[in-house]
Amino acid sequence: MANRLPVDRCKDSWHTAPGGLVSALAPIVKAESGAWIGWPGTCDETIEPFAADGMHLVPIPLSCEEHRQYYEGFSNAVLWPLYHDLIVAPQYRRDWWRTYEAVNARFAQAAIETAAYGATIWIHDYHLQLVPRIIRSQRRDVRIGFFNHIPFPSVELLAQLPWREAVLNGLLGADVIGFQRESDVTNFRNASQRFLGISPDRVSNVLGAYPISVDVDAIREAAESESVARLSRQLRHDLGSPDVLMLGIDRLDYTKGIPHRLRAFEELLEDRVLAPETTVLAQVAVPSREGIGAYQDLRDEVERLVGRINGRFGTLERGVVQYFHQSYSFEATIALYLAADVLLVTSLRDGMNLVAKEFVTARKRRGGALILSEFAGAADELHRAIIVNPHDISGLKNGMRQATSLNGDDAHEQMAAMAATVEDNDVHHWAHSFLNDLQQPTDASSPLLKISTGNTTRTLQEVKHVGR
Ligand code: F6P
Repeated sequence: MANRLPVDRCKDSWHTAPGGLVSALAPIVKAESGAWIGWPGTCDETIEPFAADGMHLVPIPLSCEEHRQYYEGFSNAVLWPLYHDLIVAPQYRRDWWRTYEAVNARFAQAAIETAAYGATIWIHDYHLQLVPRIIRSQRRDVRIGFFNHIPFPSVELLAQLPWREAVLNGLLGADVIGFQRESDVTNFRNASQRFLGISPDRVSNVLGAYPISVDVDAIREAAESESVARLSRQLRHDLGSPDVLMLGIDRLDYTKGIPHRLRAFEELLEDRVLAPETTVLAQVAVPSREGIGAYQDLRDEVERLVGRINGRFGTLERGVVQYFHQSYSFEATIALYLAADVLLVTSLRDGMNLVAKEFVTARKRRGGALILSEFAGAADELHRAIIVNPHDISGLKNGMRQATSLNGDDAHEQMAAMAATVEDNDVHHWAHSFLNDLQQPTDASSPLLKISTGNTTRTLQEVKHVGR
C-alpha cells in the first residue's frame, strides 16, 4: 500500500510507472499474487480494482477536495515540511487533519477487505501513518510493516504537531516500522518515550533502519547499452560540449537546496574559478506538487536565479545554466548521468536521495565526482563522495572546485568504491531484508500489540472479545 498506484494512465491503458520502489516491489507483488492499494492519480473518479502488468491493483478514490486537504494539505504542507526540519512553516489546519484521518481510514478499510487470512501488508510513507493501527484493530491475523521514505523529525520538532500522539500510535500498530537512517530510528524511539511513555527497550525490537536503494541491474544494463551511450554523447554535444558539465536532477522541491547550488555556482563564475565559456550547469527540475504555494514560490526563485546567472555570464550561443522544468525517461536520465562530470546533490534534508545512488551506479567504470549533502540519507553510505553542508556556501564552493579538479585515477577509484557499496545493498536486498524481518514473530509484551480506543488503551487480548 502506497499513496500512489504503481501505474500511470495513458489514454485508456495503464503503464507501469518508472521508479526504484516499483521495480523492487512489483516482482514481489506478482510472485505472491498480492495486491497494490493506492490512489490512481485522478480526482472525483471511482475506478474498480483491475489487473495491470500482472498485478492486482486496488484504486482508492479521492475527491478533488480530499486531494487538496489530504495530499496537498496535511501530507505535503504539514507533514512534509515538519519532517524536513521546517524549511517552510507547516500549517496545522484541523480540517486537513480530519480529512487525513478519513482518507487513512479508507485506505485501511481497503486493506482489511483485500488481504487474505495471514497476509503480509506493507504500508509506505507519511501519507498513511494512521493505517497500521486501524488495520490492527480489525485484523489480528495479518503482519503489518510500515516504511517511512522521508526523515523522521526530532522530538523537539515533532512536539509542534497537535496530533503527534495519534500519529505515533497509528504507526505503532505495525509489527515492524522501518526508517532510512539510524537517526530516524532514534528520533522515533525518543518520541514514543516522550509522548506515549513507552520505554525505549520495549519499542526497539520493532524499529529498524533499512536504507532504500536502486535497481542496480536495470541501471547498469541501461548504462552499458549502445543507445544510451549514443544519447549521452549527443546530450553533451547539445549542451555545448563544455570542458566541465555539472548536473543537478531533482524534483523541484525546497528540500533539495537548488537555490544554494545556483548561488555557489554563480560565485564560482564571479571569482573566475569556473570559466563561463567552458562550463555548463545542467539543472533538471522535475515538476512536483504544483498546487502548493511553497512549490510555486520555489519555482519563481529558481527561475529568477537561472535568469540572473545566464544574464550575467551567458553568451549569445548559450546559457551557462541549462534549465529544464521537465521530467525525463529512465534512459534519458541515465544518459545525463553518463554525460556529466559532476553531480550536485545539495539537499537541505533528504530521506535518502536515490539520484546520488543512481549516478554512482551508472558511472562505476567512468569516474566523475559526486557532491553530496551531509543532510541526505545517502551520506551515511557514500562516504567517498565530496560531502558538503549546503548552507555553507563557501564550503559548497570548495567542494565544487575540488570536484572539477579531481585527478582521474582518484575519481575512478572513488566512484567504483561507491558503486560497490550500492551493489551490496540494492533495492531488492532492501525489500527482502525488510520483509524477512517482518516475518519474525513479535514479542507478546510488545507495545505494538496495544490498541488505542479513544481515551483508553487496551491490549489485543482484551479487545479480541469485543468483536467487529
Ligand atoms: O520521497 C518521498 C515521496 O513521497 C515518494 O514516496 C514519492 O515517490 C516522491 O516523494 C514524489 O512525491 P509525490 O507522490 O508527491 O509526487
